Amino acid sequence: MQSRLWKFLIFAGISGLVLILAFNQPGRFADGRSIRQAPSAKPITVALVPMGTTDEYWRAVYVGAVSASRELGVALVFQGPMRRDDRSAQLDVVDAMVVRQVDAIVLAPIDNMALRGPVEDAYRSSIPVIVIDSDLQSDRTASFIRTDNYKAGFMAGEHLAGLLNHHGRVALLRGVEGNASTDHRERGFLDALAAYPEITLVSSSQHGGGTSETAYKASENILAPLKGSDGKIALDGVFCPNESTTFGMLRALEDSGLGGSVRFVGFDFSPKLLDALEKGTIDALVAQDPVRMGYLGIKAAAQKVRQPELTLEPVVDVPATIVTRQNMTEPQVKSLVRPNLRILDGVGD
Ligand code: BDR
Repeated sequence: MQSRLWKFLIFAGISGLVLILAFNQPGRFADGRSIRQAPSAKPITVALVPMGTTDEYWRAVYVGAVSASRELGVALVFQGPMRRDDRSAQLDVVDAMVVRQVDAIVLAPIDNMALRGPVEDAYRSSIPVIVIDSDLQSDRTASFIRTDNYKAGFMAGEHLAGLLNHHGRVALLRGVEGNASTDHRERGFLDALAAYPEITLVSSSQHGGGTSETAYKASENILAPLKGSDGKIALDGVFCPNESTTFGMLRALEDSGLGGSVRFVGFDFSPKLLDALEKGTIDALVAQDPVRMGYLGIKAAAQKVRQPELTLEPVVDVPATIVTRQNMTEPQVKSLVRPNLRILDGVGD
């Protein structure tokens, strides 16, 4: 009896000690960073930092983010650079959010390297960073939610090759150098074309930059040497890897009287791009799902803040859809490319 009692007392003592140690251990990650316990009562604050704020695409991302923030009790701060190539402005915004000690950051990095510094600072402050849209070369982020951009670019190449019956002269207008999302689309596009020896790439080195104005100028640089004295152009097809390059090229073609003269596959959607699709001056648009991307970004951030030890999915795919005149009025496609922006009425920035 005595020995069993002693054994029980020793077991109980050790178990109690273990429990005390476990619960008294201040919240710390394995690497020693303190775990910020989210106050369960007050809403958490998440900063959504887009690449830019001029493209329609980012408004749609914001729609999704607002929807998730209302559903999950998140105070949302939406702040980003005007131009989607203004690296220093985006760096400043992320730095400011770290200083402000927001609970989490959802970031669409303009550059796959330049944003590593402020993301490292956020990590050291135990502020989780969720990357959306465009990759960042960092192991300090909690999840990456994106379109498979290589695959989307490959789809665009396949579609354009089909429109050209697999032969002709094609130009590629690139996006912003160092921007992972458009870099991957361009690579996918070129890899798809490589399968068609009858397709000749007549231009692929021009970068459209961060606005439709800079894209317009780059488009003129592509078109000018291809124009004949008869006003015709030695070009059969063109691909642009995002909203601003697509709109810049569209305007350059139309201003040259060449709207509808070349087969045109663009990327993203906006009312103006959809009008061109209806008119036939654009043949197809590769549409992402920015509303879903914004929604999933805020949802992942809220999960990570409320359950700090939770390991999120490292990569979450959001599908891309090729939109044409033929399918753009189908209910599912229509709701994708004409998202209901009314949720933003009265929403402060
Ligand atoms: C465009 O830039 C890309 O990073 C987005 O995916 C979208 O295509 C918006 O400015």
